[in-house]
Amino acid sequence: MQKKTAMIVGATGLVASELLQLLLNDSYYRTIITVSRRQLDITHENLVQVIADYDRLEDIEELLEATDVYCCLGTTMAVAGSKEAFYKVDYTYPVEVAKIALKNESSQFLLISAMGANKNSNIFYNRVKGEVEEKIKSLGFPSTHIFRPSLLLGERKEERKGEKFMQKLSQAAPFLFMGPLAKYRPIKAVDVAKGMIAMAKKQVVGISTIDSSQIQKLADTQ
Ligand SMILES: NC(=O)c1ccc[n+]([C@@H]2O[C@H](COP(=O)([O-])OP(=O)(O)OC[C@H]3O[C@@H](n4cnc5c(N)ncnc54)[C@H](OP(=O)(O)O)[C@@H]3O)[C@@H](O)[C@H]2O)c1
Repeated sequence: MQKKTAMIVGATGLVASELLQLLLNDSYYRTIITVSRRQLDITHENLVQVIADYDRLEDIEELLEATDVYCCLGTTMAVAGSKEAFYKVDYTYPVEVAKIALKNESSQFLLISAMGANKNSNIFYNRVKGEVEEKIKSLGFPSTHIFRPSLLLGERKEERKGEKFMQKLSQAAPFLFMGPLAKYRPIKAVDVAKGMIAMAKKQVVGISTIDSSQIQKLADTQ
């Protein structure tokens, strides 16, 4: 079988960093392309780094050629500073990347969305995530995989108080996240990365939407 190329977009992020480590140690892909606005402090014979100005992606179209695209872009309202700035990172940039990937004949587009994504939601964050899901699904990749993780757990440079609280809660009271509530259980960033890779390898054709407990199950197969 011909070896494939993976492209990680938003490659400096928490999940993306885990993806990169896993993929560099996985012979399934010949080349890993990272797309980020700043250089990664890592070199590897299989790694190609693309530094992007996301407002001018059309200038680097020919560098964004990959079989499987892992889109890990995202921000928070606190960091973005305005709804417009948030929308750009969580909707406009992923959609622009996807359009180029489609033109470049990518087979699979794997998007990290979020639990609660809903284009009709009154909550701005959930609505934007729902809108980006709908748009990506409409583009017509052979395979589109939408991942809806719950709260992400992992080591960040900046403090996110809500994440720390939920981490402690899920450790102290795991029974809160059983049965139908399993999808609310916070999930480790590395498990989201593992779940995405497991799904990519299945090469399921069409559109799949994968909630947090399903991501965990996929990760546990790795
Ligand atoms: N945090 C959670 O609990 C949670 C829960 C469910 C879903 N999600 C979603 O899961 C995805 C991955 O989350 P994560 O925590 O791994 O992401 P993250 O660590 O916040 O990283 C996000 C990536 O997006 C890039 N980015 C942010 N603002 C940008 C901008 N203005 N221009 C260009 N690039 C920009 C970052 O680049 P820089 O490093 O250069 O800033 C980074 O590469 C996101 O879509 C997020 O919304 C998160």
